Amino acid sequence: MILETIKENPFLLAPMAGISDIAFRTFMRGLDASVVTTELVSANGLQHKSERTKRLMKICEQEQPVGIQIFGEDLDALAYTAKECEQMGASFVDLNFGCPVNKVVKKGAGSAVLKDLKFLTEILKTVKGAVKIPVTIKVRTGWNEETKNAHAVSNIAFNEGITWMAIHGRTRAQAYNGKADWEYIKDVYQKSSLPIIGNGDLTSAELAVSKVEGSYCDAVMIGRGALKNPWIFKESIAKNNNQIFNKETSVLPLIKALYDEYLNHFEEKIAMLQVKKFGSWFSAGYPHSAQFRQKLFSAKDPEFLWDTILEYFSELNLHQQSDTSHEAFLMGGHG
Ligand SMILES: Cc1cc2nc3c(=O)[nH]c(=O)nc-3n(C[C@H](O)[C@H](O)[C@H](O)COP(=O)(O)O)c2cc1C
Repeated sequence: MILETIKENPFLLAPMAGISDIAFRTFMRGLDASVVTTELVSANGLQHKSERTKRLMKICEQEQPVGIQIFGEDLDALAYTAKECEQMGASFVDLNFGCPVNKVVKKGAGSAVLKDLKFLTEILKTVKGAVKIPVTIKVRTGWNEETKNAHAVSNIAFNEGITWMAIHGRTRAQAYNGKADWEYIKDVYQKSSLPIIGNGDLTSAELAVSKVEGSYCDAVMIGRGALKNPWIFKESIAKNNNQIFNKETSVLPLIKALYDEYLNHFEEKIAMLQVKKFGSWFSAGYPHSAQFRQKLFSAKDPEFLWDTILEYFSELNLHQQSDTSHEAFLMGGHG
């Protein structure tokens, strides 16, 4: 069923630690992201009853279909956590084999698993054996340029009954440098029996649609692109169906909806902080955005925050956005 969903709408939201929380995921589903995934949660953390881990795993009905992403190097902990994901109502459990962060790879988890395909196979067998819901994986193209192995990983995953493989088109060694290698993704897709979701640097609807139409992959995951353009999913769907997408006339209702979603799930202090972050990202490429951001981050109470947001976004002509995709933007993450 989840494969039907991504066939109908091949534009998924990528998991982003510290960003794709329950409120943002629900908001993005409302803006037509086809499927959403939690940020990575530690299987060891859950087994040790960490409250933080449990909070990160919380999902709600409105955001379905939603997957919970887990990582770890301990087979028992991974099986235990996958079962917990199933019990919590996740539509699928996603295994993170892409995290490049030292703290994670030092323990042999995240992208370090790509160096040991025997261990990767064991993880897949264990997690598949633990749950009935679909199991998916998210990988990098390989550990480094010399050992790129997404072809081999996709064969193993297919044999183990994994539902799809998402590939961020960079090696672990690249971190967030250079460009995502879409030709490599295309090659894996064309030789793979497993559904492939391509990911990396899709900063516009045009780019996202070009990968789907150009047979680079079955579907795409969009991460940072959705932070500067919250309409990217609606726009991509329209373009993919040869329809014209008319941007709404104001970003204000969106920011208000996002704030309300945060208040549904978090205390006011967190809602304010998140709206400051998103408000500043949504302003990227518009005139005077630097001054706006400065004022926005100085807000200490909701009244000042909203006055600042209203003042800036009411005056904004949404057609005046310049392209900022060449600028470095969030060059670090867990996948
Ligand atoms: C701030 C941040 C946090 C991230 N956290 C995760 C994560 O928890 N799990 C994961 O698989 N990938 C994570 N990623 C990687 C993204 O899912 C995605 O693979 C990467 O950003 C490339 O896609 P994009 O260019 O569309 O952003 C993160 C990326 C960023 C920028």
